[in-house]
Amino acid sequence: MSASRAILVTGASSGIGRAVALRFAAPGVELHLSARDPRALELVLEDVRARGAAAHAHALDLLDAASIAALARTLRDVPLAVLVNNAGAAESAPFLRTDDALFERMLAINCTGPFRLTRALLPQLLAHGADAAIVCVASTAAKVGAPYVAAYTAAKHGLLGWMRSLAAEVAKKGLRVNAVCPGYVATPMTERTLANIQAKTGGTREQALEAILASSPQRRLVEPEEVAALVHFLASREARSIHGQALAVDGGATS
Ligand SMILES: NC(=O)c1ccc[n+]([C@@H]2O[C@H](COP(=O)([O-])OP(=O)(O)OC[C@H]3O[C@@H](n4cnc5c(N)ncnc54)[C@H](OP(=O)(O)O)[C@@H]3O)[C@@H](O)[C@H]2O)c1
Repeated sequence: MSASRAILVTGASSGIGRAVALRFAAPGVELHLSARDPRALELVLEDVRARGAAAHAHALDLLDAASIAALARTLRDVPLAVLVNNAGAAESAPFLRTDDALFERMLAINCTGPFRLTRALLPQLLAHGADAAIVCVASTAAKVGAPYVAAYTAAKHGLLGWMRSLAAEVAKKGLRVNAVCPGYVATPMTERTLANIQAKTGGTREQALEAILASSPQRRLVEPEEVAALVHFLASREARSIHGQALAVDGGATS
């Protein structure tokens, strides 16, 4: 990679985003990492720099349009080649208890926020030329429905919707746009899901894990590094004919 290959990874302080940042970290790469709390990025910055990459931390709250605009201003002169829209959040509730605030929060962080960020950074990505790429971290919830996650599911379906439309719009301009759709991944988000199930059912962590893995033929959690490897590939020249796709990394859950 050339020294001008700058990469922005949102939600890089934890889980999949951290694994993505480490996967891209190499000499000659300039990584821009964001989270709401940039202090939470300190350890990731250290690990990324230890691999020879330049690294910068940025505060970003995808629930706040002003925060998105501020990050875009900060990155105005960065020759951005890759945008990884990874940050997201998952809250669950039965359909009848999914109030407007929960529904709007899920849309804002998982769909509207990444849309706004992508729109703000699109001119830079288009200017970069043929090896520029956007990869969105969606979910199996972008492809199929499941109980208690109507808001998250609607938001991730929406994320795929604008991703596909953008892909159609920019296809001739060289920028590639894709998404990955993980099943349950071994990250703090999944640990919170397991704790939530335990609190509701009174069962053990093992029982909660068995319940969430029932939908996966492989019956195991995906490792964040597996998702990161696919994100890295989709951003590479080897993937130059892959465009507008939503690729599952889910042990066969949506096969
Ligand atoms: N874990 C899974 O099983 C799974 C499965 C399918 C898809 N996914 C998707 O994968 C992505 C990463 O998930 P993960 O499991 O790695 O989650 P995680 O461990 O909870 O990490 C989430 C990251 O997003 C950031 N973030 C949270 N709220 C934010 C906000 N409002 N604005 C900006 N950044 C925010 C967090 O940092 P701060 O808290 O400091 O902001 C953190 O860096 C998400 O889009 C998620 O929907 C996860």
